[in-house]
Amino acid sequence: MADATQLKQTVRFATSLYADKGARAYHAFVRREPLSQLAYGHRLRDPYPNYEVVRARGPFVRNRFGHPTSVDHAICNEILRSRRFGPRAEHEASGPGGEEGDLSFLTYNPPDHTRLRRLVAPAFGPRQMRGYRGLIEQTVDDLLDDVEERGSFDLVSGFASPLPIAVISRMMGIPDSETEGFATYGAAIGTALSGVTSLRHAARLMQASRALTDVFTRLFELRRREPHDDVISHLVAAQGESITPEEMVPLCTLLLLAGFETTVNAIGNGVLALMEHRDQWERLVADPGLAGGAVEEVLRFDAPVQGTSRVSFDDTVIRGTPIGRDELVQLRIGGANRDPTVFDQPDRFDITRPNAAEHLAFSGGIHYCLGAPLARLELAVVFGALARRLPQLRRADRPVRYRRSLVIHGPAALPMRVR
Ligand code: HEM
Repeated sequence: MADATQLKQTVRFATSLYADKGARAYHAFVRREPLSQLAYGHRLRDPYPNYEVVRARGPFVRNRFGHPTSVDHAICNEILRSRRFGPRAEHEASGPGGEEGDLSFLTYNPPDHTRLRRLVAPAFGPRQMRGYRGLIEQTVDDLLDDVEERGSFDLVSGFASPLPIAVISRMMGIPDSETEGFATYGAAIGTALSGVTSLRHAARLMQASRALTDVFTRLFELRRREPHDDVISHLVAAQGESITPEEMVPLCTLLLLAGFETTVNAIGNGVLALMEHRDQWERLVADPGLAGGAVEEVLRFDAPVQGTSRVSFDDTVIRGTPIGRDELVQLRIGGANRDPTVFDQPDRFDITRPNAAEHLAFSGGIHYCLGAPLARLELAVVFGALARRLPQLRRADRPVRYRRSLVIHGPAALPMRVR
């Protein structure tokens, strides 16, 4: 009986998955819709001309699902900061649904959002950031020793990925024996952010999700017996008071996923932009103190998270467009970051741009990226160290492979050479 139900569910899932692929292709190639085209070919790498088509059509354009979608900086900013929009409908129960892929407070409304965010926020305070600097510098130095010796390397797997994993593992207190599994399962689950692409993919995700739950469960036990100064010990101590047992795994999964793929792609996009704008790279090499400004411009110019969404709690009108209660609105952060009413010559990459930090790459309002101080620190150390240690860095003469995602944006492989 259970088998028959499972089979039915699998068939239903497979049918909807492939029907959706077909519908998207129809909208992209037959109807030539700029937002559907983003899923294909060179638009995965360069979505920006399509955002300009959207911008020219008005403050909102409806995507193929009928959702109002905006690339307007003021509109995205207003909606992200509004208390009358949230990641889910106002009446929809907040808190863990126990569903696969529950991403904790990122997808909750207050008061659950407030309670859980408050619980982990101290891990991102200024004192903690000072504590991470040494680890980040040391990890970056070790990785650069290794790539220098090799001469050519893949920036994504050989440099960008190991860094955030080392930092998040330290933050959460993952013991060395578990780090490899933690990274592998985390990377597998991270692919879900780009959408489930096949039945095999769905099966791999479920397997990884169970394995990651096992890693966390073992750790909860360990830290209950032997508490340390890390996030998991802190959560275990708060369990039963400000966090329920069911909320523990989704919260840990959020910290892993939010801090991993995003940082990897920010490094990939940043190095790619610096290589393709050699004058800006030379400026950074001449003055690695410009690394902080380079971070903001990289996040503005080619945001690693290209979009997010919100649900309206009311019937409302924004810039003449009616938005219904419970209606989903898509916000294309990548497009907002190229809004010419905010950024002068937005398609120019300039690491000294005075207002680059007005980008929305870390979102805004109550869901503003909690890890932003950590991400900024990691990226500044990375760009500074690359410029100091590898001034001759170049792209190797091989093509860049791009991630097939409309949300997480960046190279999946970026072959480089040191000289
Ligand atoms: C360059 C790197 C990063 C980028 C571009 C980024 C981007 C974002 C964005 C856009 C959101 C909000 C999404 C929305 O409003 O729907 C977000 C939320 C979040 N990020 Fe980041 N992130 C980065 C790094 C990190 C790191 C290193 C961590 C932690 C280790 C982290 C932890 C979080 C958390 C916990 C949230 C949820 C905040 C909330 O819902 O209140 N992020 N991030």
